[in-house]
Amino acid sequence: MTQPVKIRFSATEEFEAGIGDSILDVALRNGIALDHACGGVCACSTCHVKIEAGAEALNEATEEEEDQLDQARDLALTSRLGCQA
Ligand code: FES
Repeated sequence: MTQPVKIRFSATEEFEAGIGDSILDVALRNGIALDHACGGVCACSTCHVKIEAGAEALNEATEEEEDQLDQARDLALTSRLGCQA
């Protein structure tokens, strides 16, 4: 049985994510302001997030996501698109 995944947006805010939920899904469901100019279809980089821990629980980034991430400001090795991860 798969354990629920918790997503933490700050030191004090932690939310459960279901299988198939994106980070953006969890943010929006819980009132966390995460930009998403293209509506979550991997056509911008406004939902750029940096994963601090637990990256192994995420799907692999697709080539399309990596291409969009190249447009993100302040890119890091741990960067993902919130709508795709
Ligand atoms: Fe545009 Fe995620 S919302 S790429």
